[in-house]
This record gives sequence, structure tokens and C-alpha cells, in this order.
Amino acid sequence: MIDKKILHGGDYNPEQWLECKDILEEDILLMKEAGINCVTLGVFSWSMLEPEEGVYDFVWLAERIDRLHENDIRVILATPSGAMPHWLTQKYPEVMQVQENERRNLPGRRHNFCYTSPVMRKKVRRIDLELSKRFGKHPAVILWHISNELGGNWGDGACHCEQCQNAFRAWLREKYHTLEALNHAWWNRFWSHVYTDWEQIHSPAPHGEALSHGLKLDWKRFVTEQMTDFCRQEIDAVRTYSDLPVTTNFMEFFKNLNYHRLHQCLDVVSWDSYPQWHAAKDEVPVAVRAAAGHSMMRSMKKQPFLLMESTPSCVNWRMFNPVKRPGMHMLSSMQAIAHGSDSVQYFQWRKGRGAYEKFHGAVLDHKNGSAARTFREVSEVGERLSSIQSLIEGTVNRPVAAIVFDWENWWAVEDVSGPRLDLDYVSEVLKHYQVFWEAGMDADFVSMEDRFEQYKILCAPVNYLYKEGYARKVRKYVEDGGCYVTTWFSGVADDTDLCFTGHHPLEDVLGVVQEEIDAPGEDFENGFIYQGTRYLAGRIREICGAKDTAEVLASYDSDFYAGCPAVTKHPFGKGYCYYIASETGTDFLRVFYRELFSASGLHAPLGIELPYGVTTAVRSGAREIVFVMNFCQEDVCLEGIGSFKDAETGDVYKDRIMLERFSCKMLCRTEA
Ligand code: GLA
Ligand code: ZN
Repeated sequence: MIDKKILHGGDYNPEQWLECKDILEEDILLMKEAGINCVTLGVFSWSMLEPEEGVYDFVWLAERIDRLHENDIRVILATPSGAMPHWLTQKYPEVMQVQENERRNLPGRRHNFCYTSPVMRKKVRRIDLELSKRFGKHPAVILWHISNELGGNWGDGACHCEQCQNAFRAWLREKYHTLEALNHAWWNRFWSHVYTDWEQIHSPAPHGEALSHGLKLDWKRFVTEQMTDFCRQEIDAVRTYSDLPVTTNFMEFFKNLNYHRLHQCLDVVSWDSYPQWHAAKDEVPVAVRAAAGHSMMRSMKKQPFLLMESTPSCVNWRMFNPVKRPGMHMLSSMQAIAHGSDSVQYFQWRKGRGAYEKFHGAVLDHKNGSAARTFREVSEVGERLSSIQSLIEGTVNRPVAAIVFDWENWWAVEDVSGPRLDLDYVSEVLKHYQVFWEAGMDADFVSMEDRFEQYKILCAPVNYLYKEGYARKVRKYVEDGGCYVTTWFSGVADDTDLCFTGHHPLEDVLGVVQEEIDAPGEDFENGFIYQGTRYLAGRIREICGAKDTAEVLASYDSDFYAGCPAVTKHPFGKGYCYYIASETGTDFLRVFYRELFSASGLHAPLGIELPYGVTTAVRSGAREIVFVMNFCQEDVCLEGIGSFKDAETGDVYKDRIMLERFSCKMLCRTEA
């Protein structure tokens, strides 16, 4: 934990209100009323901190940090590179991004900077140094927040200017050393694409090279490296006069940047979570996606993370923007804690009067002050967080299952011109996670470079690209007793997207031989019977043969490959591999994993089958806390749970527990 307290607060933008004399004292008073103990300052304050080049005005910020400190409110201090002041873009237009179409952006918006530009880097470093010198040891400041949502701009989030092109070429030279090696890795004799000069290489563009998979994959890797380097340089600057930990705010399943790389230069992972609650009466898909986001963030460092932003009410940027129904704010906040967050932070404290985000939910609305429903619900969260502090202190989530989610695989598999052009990796991964969630078994998300031995089940859906060393690790994992589940379109290509030839790298481990991959039209229905029930084969179906040592658990029932295996199980060493050859729905995966959990001796925390919409997650330390969450529109009653104590109220539940709609309880075993 970066602080003794569970952090509760969020983005505070007082620079928008400097003319309102009494507002600071009002803010502080209301923050205390809402149980706010931490605010994030300075995220987009550059033009107010450095109104002219080299002229700094930190008076307003210093005054606010001091007043907050006097009131025991902590500060997360942001570096302001997320948005550039106009004097900067006017004087040095090269700091603005160039899009894929080779047009340089105009000034404005945010995240609009070239992360290679030496001028940009110099100007950012200057202001960061000044901030660090002035506030880096201030007792109120607990954490540096580097920039904002890195990579979150138009298109691929990257800059395609000439300086970035040169940096890309240099990066490629470092990686491949020779053009020969690069030409081979990208298979450049195809369509006469052989490069004879490094200068011929250009970033992917819709009006240029948009079809070379190797180029596109390396470009994405480069963008991550360059952005990470930019972040690292900001970290160096703020660390010059300060030892405080650093973070930057991530976004959910964000394709442009490989967070498994970026998090390595941070001390704490934090992210901004904006689930689309109330898009439909069935909240489960939204709850699953939100839980997966939290679990992903936690899995990076296998440590608690920070929920840096969430909305206490609604957002303003979707087609339609429902406000959170009563109870949902508490539930979604507790959901974050349940999956490993040590904070509940908002965007933002006070709604601005003008500009783009004036209708985005905030703790304080334009009207009604602390009497507003949102404010009251936020205060309830504040009160609850402070009362559960001692319960969750020192606890962590340690799931026994993990799902491979790897950015490089994501980039490669969705770029494939293969069986279907609309492959959606995140949805495939979420199908598996949903089944874990429904069973009340949280899972970690790991990259191919992670360690696996602590997990009883490792599941790798649509694991198309195998990074160097991955097959070896999986082999060892299964040999040593692990249970590995993988699916269609896995183990197809190596790091540079060159297809494996001869054999699948894990053929002997999986016990199947891939033959063809079929993606027929809707008329060609196919299916398979698993444990007496017929399930539909999805839109992509692999045709395989099973080795003699494999057990065929289900076979296709139609078309020319009727009788070919659809699901297999194969013993290898002390462990097992399961191969799901066809795309399936969650209906099949539910039954499949239920079976697997019991075969692996895994039990959900409450030991019962949970009703749809209810889930559990566990944080453990000195004691084990089971969070039980109800995302249903109705109250539910869980029966047969044995004996549990309510960790908050001390009530004892014998065998049954009532959960109100949109609510969360924290339980521990009665012996504890
Ligand atoms: C992001 C940004 C915030 C704000 C919110 C609105 O998370 O970091 O500055 O724009 O979105 O949802
Ligand atoms: Zn650039």
C-alpha cells in the first residue's frame, strides 16, 4: 500500500476556479464531508503553471497543497504533459503529432504530442524538474502521476513525423542489425518488398504500407518502447528531487500500448475504469469486463493497484450516458477493492462550468452541493472505505488460475488476413474470464513472458503468436503438473509473425495435429455433443487429428469433418492439456470449466453454484476476506454456504445469506 489509508478522492482541477475566492475552503469542507482523503492535482495544468515559456507560477498550487495538507488530504501530483499550452505549440510546431496520413495535427485537444521530439522532451523535463524541486518533498504529496492516459490520441495513438520515422529506423537497426535479417523476418520478397536502404522504411499508413504484418507488429512494439521511454524520462525528472513512487494512468484493454512493458518503469499500476453500467438490464457482461480490467491491472505486479479514475455518476462521451442507479456506485467501488484496488478515485471532484467535460459526472454537480444523490452515495463509499481499512490492510488477491493475455498476440491475431477478418481477441479472452467470474473464481491475466508455476490452470485462448521461449515454458508447466487449456488458431506464428512450418511447437504436448481452419458461412451449421448436450460450433473451426494418446471429449457432427475432434484432453508429464478446436459460446465453456475445476480440486470460495449475476473475489493476508457481489436487478438469497461471519457487521450467516440488488458483502469464515 502506498499509504496507510485506502485512498478515496480523485482529479481536482482548482485552476478552473481561481477567481472564486471562497471555493477552496468550500471544497475542503465538502471533501471532508464526503470522506475524501486524496486528490490528484495538476493533470492538465501546464498553461497555468508555466503561463509563458520559462515563467513559472506555482503560487496557486502551493497554496492549495498546503491547505489540503492542513486538512489531512493527500495529494497525487501529476506532471502536466497530457496537454500542451498554446505558447508551446505556436513556437515549436514540431511538438505536435503527425497522424498516419502524414498530416500534422493542429494545436488543441490533448495527448497531442510527439513523444520523440527533443523540444517536447526538453520542455517537459524543465517543468517536471521545477515541480519536483518545489513539491517533491512536500509531506502532502504521496505519488507522482506521470502525464495522462499515454497513447490515448487519434488512430494508433502514435506520431508519424520524420523524427519518429528516424527513431523507428534506428530501433529496427538495433533489433535486426542487417537489412537482410529484417527482410527475412518480414518476408519481404513477397510483392517485391525487399528493402535495400534503411531510409526506405516507413511507418504503416493507410495510403502506404498497410499490409505487411511484420512491419505493423514491429511498429507497435516501437511505439510502446518510445512511449515508455518518454515516460521514463519524465520519471527521471521528477525523481531528481524526490523519492516518491510513480504511476501513470492506464486504460482498460487499450490496444495501442503494451502495458506489460510500460508498467515495468512504474512503482504502482493505476487505471481509469469507466464501465457502461445500465446499458442493458443484464449487467453481467459489463461487470465481467470491469472485473477483468481490475484483475489485469492487479496481475501486472501481482500487487494491489490504484483505481485512479472512475465516475461517481455518468460519463459524457458514449452515445448514451446513464447515471449510476442507487447502489451501483457502492457496488462498483467495492468491486475494484475486491479485485485488488487500494483506492477509489474519481474523475472528477467538481464539475467544470464549461468546455467538453461539463456534463461528465463528478462528486459535486453544478447544483445542489452536498444534498445531491451522487454526493451522498460518494460519502457512503468514503465512510465504508475508512471502516474497512483495517480489514483489507496487507491483503492481496492470489487466484489459482490465469489467462494468457498478451498485447503482441492481440496485435498479430487481429491483423491476420486469415480465416475471418473480424477476429476480436478481447471478446474471446473475456468469454473464458466470464466463466471464471460466474463460478466465483477470479483469475489473473499473464503475458507470455510471465511465470506460470503458481497457477493450477493456465488458459490461453486464441494464442496465435508464440513468443520465443513460450512453448518451452508451457511444456515445462504441463510436465510439472499444470493444466493447460488452449484453443483454435494457437501456436501458428513466431515473434515476427512468420508461420511455424512442419509441426505445431507444442504438438506432442497438446496431442493434436492441426490440419485446416474453416470459417464457413452461416448456412454451414456444425456442432458437437459434450456430456450429452449439443453445442454449436462457432464461426471458426479448426480441423485436427488427435494423437493416440489423446482423449477425444467431443467431435464435430456435420460437414466433411464430422467425427474430427472438437475438444480433446491429453496427458503430458504430470499434467494435462485441453484443446478446444472450435470457437464456442460461453454455454459450452461453462460446462467445460465446471468439470475442469472439480477435476483439479478447485472450489469457489463459497463452495456453491452461484446464481447468474453474483460473483466472489478473495483478498487474503492475515485473514481471508471473501467479497460477495450481486450485480442483479433483484435481491438474491444464497443457500448452502456453510457458516460465515460478516467482516463488517459481525453478523453470522448460517447456511444462507441475503444480498440486496447491487450490493457487496465482505465475509470471513467463522473460525477466523
Ligand atoms: C479519462 C481522462 C480524464 C477524463 C475522463 C473522462 O480517464 O484521464 O481526464 O477525461 O477520461 O471520462
Ligand atoms: Zn513524432
